Amino acid sequence: GASGEAVDTGRDFVASLNLSNKKCVIFYGSQTGTAEDYGTRIAKEIKSRYGISSLVCDPEDYDFDNLDAVPEDHLVVFCMATYGEGEPTDNAVQLMDFLKEEPQFSNGTSLENLRYVIFGLGNSTYEHFNAVSRNLDERLTQLGAHRVGPRGEGDDDKSMEEDYLAWKDEMFDAIHKQLGWEEGAGGDVADFEVRELDEVDEAKVYLGELSARALTGARGVFDAKNPFPAPLIQAKELFEDGERNCVFAEFDITDSGIRYQTGDHVAVWPVNPNDEVERTLHILGLADKRHKVIEVKSLDPALAKVPFPIPTTYETVFRHYLDISAHASRQTVGQMAKFAPTDAAREMLEKLGADKEFYHEVVGSKCLRLSEVLVLAAGNANTVWNIPVDRIIGAIHRLQPRYYSISSSPKMYPNSIHVTAVVLKYEPVVGANKVFGVGTNYLLNLKNAANGTLEKVEAREQGTPVYHLEGPRGKYKKDTHFAAPIHVRRSTFRLPTSPKVPIVMIGPGTGVAPFRGFIQDRVALARKAKEKDGPDALKDWGTIDLFYGCRRSTWDFLYRDEWDQYAKELDGKFRMHCAFSREPGQPKVYVQQLLRNEGDRVGEALVQNKGYAYICGDAGSMAKQVERELAHILGKAKGGSDEDGEKELKLLKDRNRLLLDVWS
Ligand code: FAD
Ligand code: 2AM
Repeated sequence: GASGEAVDTGRDFVASLNLSNKKCVIFYGSQTGTAEDYGTRIAKEIKSRYGISSLVCDPEDYDFDNLDAVPEDHLVVFCMATYGEGEPTDNAVQLMDFLKEEPQFSNGTSLENLRYVIFGLGNSTYEHFNAVSRNLDERLTQLGAHRVGPRGEGDDDKSMEEDYLAWKDEMFDAIHKQLGWEEGAGGDVADFEVRELDEVDEAKVYLGELSARALTGARGVFDAKNPFPAPLIQAKELFEDGERNCVFAEFDITDSGIRYQTGDHVAVWPVNPNDEVERTLHILGLADKRHKVIEVKSLDPALAKVPFPIPTTYETVFRHYLDISAHASRQTVGQMAKFAPTDAAREMLEKLGADKEFYHEVVGSKCLRLSEVLVLAAGNANTVWNIPVDRIIGAIHRLQPRYYSISSSPKMYPNSIHVTAVVLKYEPVVGANKVFGVGTNYLLNLKNAANGTLEKVEAREQGTPVYHLEGPRGKYKKDTHFAAPIHVRRSTFRLPTSPKVPIVMIGPGTGVAPFRGFIQDRVALARKAKEKDGPDALKDWGTIDLFYGCRRSTWDFLYRDEWDQYAKELDGKFRMHCAFSREPGQPKVYVQQLLRNEGDRVGEALVQNKGYAYICGDAGSMAKQVERELAHILGKAKGGSDEDGEKELKLLKDRNRLLLDVWS
């Protein structure tokens, strides 16, 4: 089992509880880690409210035949995500299967002693919203168990965070009433202890390195745990319409050992912008000792791991490791109230933490960061807040890499990786300060630095954030080239192996990113085929259709100069269909309309010729509208209704012949 105890209790979680003297176990059905995060959060809150420690467990590691052996004053918490068509996460399949039929429990058949809490994570745009937590809840109740508090249902389509906050107080109240756990027993506990070090070996201090190998310079593979500082050998803006920027970046992977396949994703690890780092250091009173070396220890390693490598420095923590640029959550803001420098500031933060509408009006709708909220509450930017750094570390997530669909093919560019990134900036509500995306503005800075035009962009748009680009110990700078840490993540977004199979690609805007790679892949294949079999080599090839959309043909048309050349090399097998949404004097056209116009061609490619379809780009309305259009086309090609088309669409998805690469 994963209990972390010296004595092996195997797959018996009740034995693990007994052995570790714990009264609460939290199981998370998690695929990408969100349900696990909420599970850990509940564990932390149980500890701080009641002084009771929990085991946080992967259900895959345990058997559930002794659910009936959990003592009455113990608690089992389930944090369960639902996927796709109502399916459990991989790690919860075994638990759900066990309970489905007639489960044989070790002592009998009833769960009447069992007290449980349940929080589901789902997305209400899917038909089977929160099916897993609902089924589990119903099944446990049928078997005689008692739910403590209401069932929680988080909706990823709206605000998971608000759903959680709205649910948890009633739930904790019910725990107190039904299990007799006493509030206040835990006091307000810190997760970490931060210690300043005096005697240090400089070479062992992390200054932004993302792995031990990066620090020591040891050889080894480059992967998610040890990203490669890839030199940016070419960068430019794909269009400049005065308002938006779209950056093309080419990273060199020569001699890195990194390989990629067409359709993979590349992760780029950004840093926080200078302004944000400075504001945070000042507010916390750390500006003068920014280079002080610190060590961080977890006070309960089962609940909270130190999120970054140590020893490190204050400045490094805020520049490289913590996501201080994230929007401040209501809970985090509320937690800072007790450290407020004035009564007014404390009252404001308490109100923000407690009052959902007030929080939304003042913080949420304006997408304020924690530092901005603190400045607002104190009334100025000079007031120092006495917030222990351990609290900040406990409240703010680790800064994450940003993913991009690779825009090149290794068949054409074996030694480089191309990225197409639209630079994120938005005004959350009218009159609020502009918000700049961390990762894409970092890329924009890299691009400008490489081309020596950092100042130009600053002049063009006030407020564009500036970043420290040299990397730890100046390692990311070579002449005019800067490097950024990257790693490759395998995807399932793949071309059919044989070029005889037709493909239909739909990708408006930056959704075209992976399709440039797809087309390059086919072009490279065509060159080889022609070398080998002569000019008619492509005659058996399937059709290659790309549906692309942008605002204006002369404005934001990505890679405009490349497509004709690709088409020429592909002997007319490749056809590009362009939807312009803001062409002067023309009606607004979206890709789904062009799909409809080409319905017969698309239907033939996908149905008669068993082709593959791909959708990439905006996960919101675009992907859904395109799917609806495809269903209509499939239904028609099958000689049936739109409903038949929906079924065909699902079948294509199940057979991996309709693949999505979408993001929000
Ligand atoms: P962040 O600082 O991370 O800010 C993003 C957050 O800001 C959002 O999560 C949202 O919470 C908030 N936000 C955004 N707009 C608004 C608004 N109007 N109002 C309020 N809040 C808002 N991007 C590309 O450009 N090209 C690609 O090829 C590409 N491929 C991707 C592939 C995958 C598999 C995934 C998961 C994502 C991909 N993305 C791609 C998106 C990319 O990873 C980043 O999310 C994006 O570039 C923004 O990153 P950022 O750090 O600049 O923004
Ligand atoms: P718009 O900005 O004029 O609304 C790339 O962003 C292109 O996708 C733009 O032409 C944009 O049009 C268009 N687009 C916006 N929403 C869309 C949707 N729901 N379906 C298809 N295309 C969309």
